[in-house]
Formats: sequence, C-alpha cells, structure tokens
Amino acid sequence: MSKELIEKAKEKFAAIINEQLKRVEALKKEAEDIDYSAVSPIIIGVCFGDGIGEVISKHAEGVLKHLLKDEVASGKVKFKEIAGLTIENRAKHKKAIPDDVLKELKACHVILKGPTTTPQAGGKWPNIESANVAMRRHLDLFANVRPVRIPKEDIDWCFFRENTEGAYILGSKGFDVSDDISIDFKVITEQGAERIIRMAFEYAKNNNIDRVTVVTKSNVVKTTDGRFSKVAFRIAKEYPKIKLDEWYIDIMTAKLLDPARRRDFKVIVLPNLYGDILTDEAAQLQGGVGTAGSANIGRRWSMFEAIHGSAPRMVEEGRDKFADPSSMIRASAMLLRHIGYPEKAERVNLALDRCSGNEKAKITGRETGITGEEYTKYILSQVD
Ligand code: IPM
Ligand code: MG
Repeated sequence: MSKELIEKAKEKFAAIINEQLKRVEALKKEAEDIDYSAVSPIIIGVCFGDGIGEVISKHAEGVLKHLLKDEVASGKVKFKEIAGLTIENRAKHKKAIPDDVLKELKACHVILKGPTTTPQAGGKWPNIESANVAMRRHLDLFANVRPVRIPKEDIDWCFFRENTEGAYILGSKGFDVSDDISIDFKVITEQGAERIIRMAFEYAKNNNIDRVTVVTKSNVVKTTDGRFSKVAFRIAKEYPKIKLDEWYIDIMTAKLLDPARRRDFKVIVLPNLYGDILTDEAAQLQGGVGTAGSANIGRRWSMFEAIHGSAPRMVEEGRDKFADPSSMIRASAMLLRHIGYPEKAERVNLALDRCSGNEKAKITGRETGITGEEYTKYILSQVD
C-alpha cells in the first residue's frame, strides 16, 4: 500500500520538476521588455469580472477613455472589451480562464481587469483555480507592483511582490498523498527571484531611493526563502549606493504598524504569499483595500487590477453601486504610466488624492456616501 502511494507521489513530483526545469530554460532565454512607443495601436483589453468588479471597472474604463480620447481618435490606442471572464462562464468551462478568453487576452498589450471570484472548496462554484493566478502564469506577469502612500505620515512604499512562483503557482498542484496526508509545494528559482529583485533595485535607482528591503522567512523556510534572500544580496552588490536589509515576514507585519519606523521603508521586495498578505495590511493603513491599485507586469503583457476581490456580499446587499472605484482608477493610472503617459497618470493620481478626505466626494460603500458613478464624475471634473 505505502509503496504504491510513494510511486504515485513520485510521479506527481517528477511532473512538477519537469515543468519547472522547462520553465527555467525558458526564463534563461527571456525576451526584452516591450517598447510601447514603437507599438501602434496599443491594444487595451478590458475585462469586467464579477461582483462589484462589473461596476467599478466600468467606471475606471470611463476614466481611461476620457484621458486617452485623442490617442483613440488618432489610432495610437484601441480599446477592446473582453467578455467571458465571469465566474458563470469560467464555471461552465471548468477553467480558470476559458481558452477563447485567453486567446483574446493574448491579442492585447495591456489589460484592465476587474476583480473576479476565486472559488473555494465546498462553495457554490466548482473549485477552479483563481483567474488572477492563472492570468499571471499564462501571461508570465512576474512582477506585482503595489504602491501605498500615506502623505500625511510621509509614507511612500512600493511593494514588489513576486507573482509567478512561491507557494501560489504550485498551490494548485499539491495533492493528497493518502487519506490523511496533504502536500503542497513551493518553488523559488534563481531566475525568477533575480528578475523581480532586479526590478525593485532599478525602481529604487531611478527614483533616488537608497534602501531596498527584502522580506522572507529564510531563518525557517531555509531553502526557498533562503535562495530569495541570497539572490537579493547578490544583486545588491551591483547597486553600491543602495543599502539592502532583510526582515522576516512576522516582524515586518508588526513594523508596518510602528509609526516610529514604518516611514523608513521605501522599496520592499518579497515572495508571492508574503507579498499578498503584507500588501493587504499596507493598503488597509492607506485607507482600505478599496483604495489600492496593483500592476502585474511581464515582458510582453501587463495587467492592471484592484488589490481586492469581487465583494459578493456588497452585491447581495444591493450596495454595489456604492462600491469605491478608487482601486480600479489607481490601477488605470498605473496602466497609463506603463504605456508611456506618465503625465496623464499623475493627473489621475492627483485627482484621487484630492478626493480622499473631501466631504463632497465621500464614498463609504453604503447609502451614507455617494455612489461610484458620482465619485467617478467628481474625479473626471478634477483631471482636466
Ligand atoms: C491578490 C488577491 C489574489 C491573490 C487572489 C484573488 C487569488 O488576493 O491579488 O492579492 O491572492 O493573489
Ligand atoms: Mg491579496
């Protein structure tokens, strides 16, 4: 019996190793970053997602279209709405991303994506993989860049979360070895760690920031986190003007709450799962997850989204029209910067900054505040 189980487990493990060996070979031959100034038209795909996603991504699309109207008129930019990334359609095809949707996504350059529902075991939907995780893997969106700013406290953090490795990607490849034993895997590769860490250092260099913080649990998770940390210290040698320090994830979550220290962090680079957790905490400090946008950057494609989920409860309670579209509008600003319009991006960010704390633009997620549509109108009145 146990021999049989071991043989079966070995087969599964061998398949995973094979896949990762191939992946690493592909990473070694990775293409250059796309140069958008040479691309025409730049195709922006828009997926609306589920729950509040439908409403808030429509608002964000409106803001983007407004800022890019000249570029659309001249043919430099083209919008393409992509249907089918809804939980109903994904459940019907039993796929995280149905094949025809994936094909359409690949025909774009950048994607604005509304939150999508991630099923869990035992829930009302088939337990398919998260659409976010699948898209990050299929389009090789290795860098999850999540800025968080609290101007009144002089906090300006930029998180670089590794997006294609760690506990996530192999999370859906784990298996029950026996009736009693479940095993998941976590992978960090030299190339995968290097590309995200290098991106964090380049960002620090280009923004005159003299400190990068790597967050791991390398004292306990010695092999994978150990590699991530080693790669960080190797890359740091190429940037003598930037100091690298390492923090463990547990104390780091505490330090983000320490007013005496937290503003000193600037650029933070970390493996997938730690990045997921720490960025929710950071966004909450900024004013809630509804305020934070997120960029998923790859060499060929990039995707921009909210940091939060589809909030089905808000829809059930009929509050979707009061959902805060700021996260998706921030994501749109990141998209604008990414495709070469930093000045337009800045206008959107300034309009959002002006709205936060402004009584006229008070959005609370319920009747006590204005609707997402009214809020978006207010933003549009501020961007020009
Ligand atoms: C995020 C989300 C996703 C993640 C979920 C929806 C799979 O929490 O983008 O942070 O865990 O990556
Ligand atoms: Mg998350």
